[in-house]
Amino acid sequence: MKKSSKSNILKTYFHYVLKRKWLYLIVMLSVLVIAFLDGYYPYLSGNIVDRLNISAFEDGGRLILTLLLVLFLRGVFEEILYYLEGLIDLTLLDREPRIDYVKKIQSLDFKFHSSKSTGSLISISSRINNSLNTLFNNLNIWGIIHLVDVSVSTFFLYKVSPLVALIFLSTITISVIVGYPLLKWNVRVRKRFVDEGDKIGGVISDNMIGFETVKAFGQEEYEIERLEKRFDKWQKEGMKYLITFRVFDSTIYIITLLSTALIIYLAYSRVIEGVWTTGMLVTVIGYATNMIWKSFNIVYKAKDFMKASVDLEKFVKVMDTEPSIAEKENAKDLGDIKKGISFKDVSFTYTESDDGEEKTYVLEDINFDIDLNQTVALVGKSGSGKTTLAKLLMRYYDVDNGSIEVNGIDVRDLKIKSLRKGIGLVPQDPVMFNESIKYNISYGNPDASIDRIKSAAKSAALDRFIDSLPKGYDTVVGERGIKLSGGQRQRLAIARVMLENPEIIIFDEATSQLDSENERAIQEAFKNLTEDKTTVVIAHRLSTIMHADMIVVFDEGKIVETGTHSDLMSKKGIYAMLWKLQTEN
Ligand SMILES: Nc1ncnc2c1ncn2[C@@H]1O[C@H](COP(=O)(O)OP(=O)(O)O)[C@@H](O)[C@H]1O
Ligand SMILES: [Mg+2]
Repeated sequence: MKKSSKSNILKTYFHYVLKRKWLYLIVMLSVLVIAFLDGYYPYLSGNIVDRLNISAFEDGGRLILTLLLVLFLRGVFEEILYYLEGLIDLTLLDREPRIDYVKKIQSLDFKFHSSKSTGSLISISSRINNSLNTLFNNLNIWGIIHLVDVSVSTFFLYKVSPLVALIFLSTITISVIVGYPLLKWNVRVRKRFVDEGDKIGGVISDNMIGFETVKAFGQEEYEIERLEKRFDKWQKEGMKYLITFRVFDSTIYIITLLSTALIIYLAYSRVIEGVWTTGMLVTVIGYATNMIWKSFNIVYKAKDFMKASVDLEKFVKVMDTEPSIAEKENAKDLGDIKKGISFKDVSFTYTESDDGEEKTYVLEDINFDIDLNQTVALVGKSGSGKTTLAKLLMRYYDVDNGSIEVNGIDVRDLKIKSLRKGIGLVPQDPVMFNESIKYNISYGNPDASIDRIKSAAKSAALDRFIDSLPKGYDTVVGERGIKLSGGQRQRLAIARVMLENPEIIIFDEATSQLDSENERAIQEAFKNLTEDKTTVVIAHRLSTIMHADMIVVFDEGKIVETGTHSDLMSKKGIYAMLWKLQTEN
């Protein structure tokens, strides 16, 4: 499993970086030129020293010009490289993957969203660019520069002294071999460090979303303590992470320093013995001092790769998540509505059961039909599964057994968008965007004229409230709609659906937070809206649904009674009892 995720990480990386192949090719060309020039430079400078010694001055002059040319070319290619690198970073490694990430999260189903941590997902998003850029900059550019540079250096060193070339290459190899386990240790520790960091993000976002609860219970200090505890853990891992670096650095430093000393000693004695020229000494010292930071860099690039992999792993994991609600390839459009809705032997549970364990269903053996243009009411105690049934109808989840048909088509055979556009849902607890009232009402129909928006608001008995606001329809409602009351949010959600005017409507306790005055004001509009529509009304207050064509009574996920108001009253069952309770109060 680990292997496949590594290859997925590389696949993801190359998917983005290769989106503009020409850019990538020019970058790679610059990389090769720079690497070659870097490897050549000490050899060239040694040669110059020798030419000066034997006073072949013209020759030396030409070499100095070559040296200047090398420096000039290196500068030019480095500029090209930095510019293109920045360009690729901005577009291919930042904008695109982060948009893809949000697209992916949008496409995921309710199962994913109800167990996600917004804070962690945001932390992951903020690290995508950094880690892709690390792969690009450190591995693909500098990693390659160093490797090519080492090969070129070894080649020129060999021309001076095969022994020194051997020591040079061995030192770098030993650094990598010794460095590798230290690196793995470093990356392991870092993973724990990053995980703790993500959890901090989770606590912070939880805190911000739930601020009202925090304040209501006066738990500010408790929340800060919770945060501090998280930070304690994070810091503990962070300290360990710091130590891994120091151990790693010192080890590599000691190895390379010893080897540098050996090389310089060798070269120096050869010159004293008169076997080597001064130029050879200059060349060898040049390569030897480079060796220290080259070893560091190579091992560090490898480490950065692993580090970036850990970060990208989480991104790739989200990108690889398959939504369990998927559209079939030959999915159909809802089309003209000619039939109602039927629930056939529907059973459902939120939890995935372990094999062999008996399931406790949230809904069990649900069977009933809603004829075209009928209004059916669902009633029952809280937690009896009414909202869940509405979610199944919208195909937020798939049924475990049985089927749900809309317009005679199984919802699993429909295009998801077509199904959801065809059904207007006023949810139990509507959430708004932190935008204007106008924007929120017209969310499903952004092109609606202001007149239509106003008339929808009027039908939802929201017009007087909006007109009383200094900014009217341009008033911004706050995050999640926090500046509105529960009842205002509900009426806004109703206006939204009125504007959309869909063929099928679900009201999930849509008026539960309205006072009787507002409710009465809306009833008339409801009647107009639902007259020639198929409607599901989930209601707590039975007086609001007594005129429904059929009332379905739920208890603990099962249907216990069905019929009209008068049928159910004469049955003297649960419904009659609930009715009695409500009218007596
Ligand atoms: N996302 C979820 N994950 C797990 N259980 C859930 C989820 N949503 C609702 N439930 C459970 O399903 C049951 C039915 O809930 P719901 O359909 O909202 O009831 P109702 O709308 O009738 O009050 C409850 O026991 C509730 O705890
Ligand atoms: Mg409910």
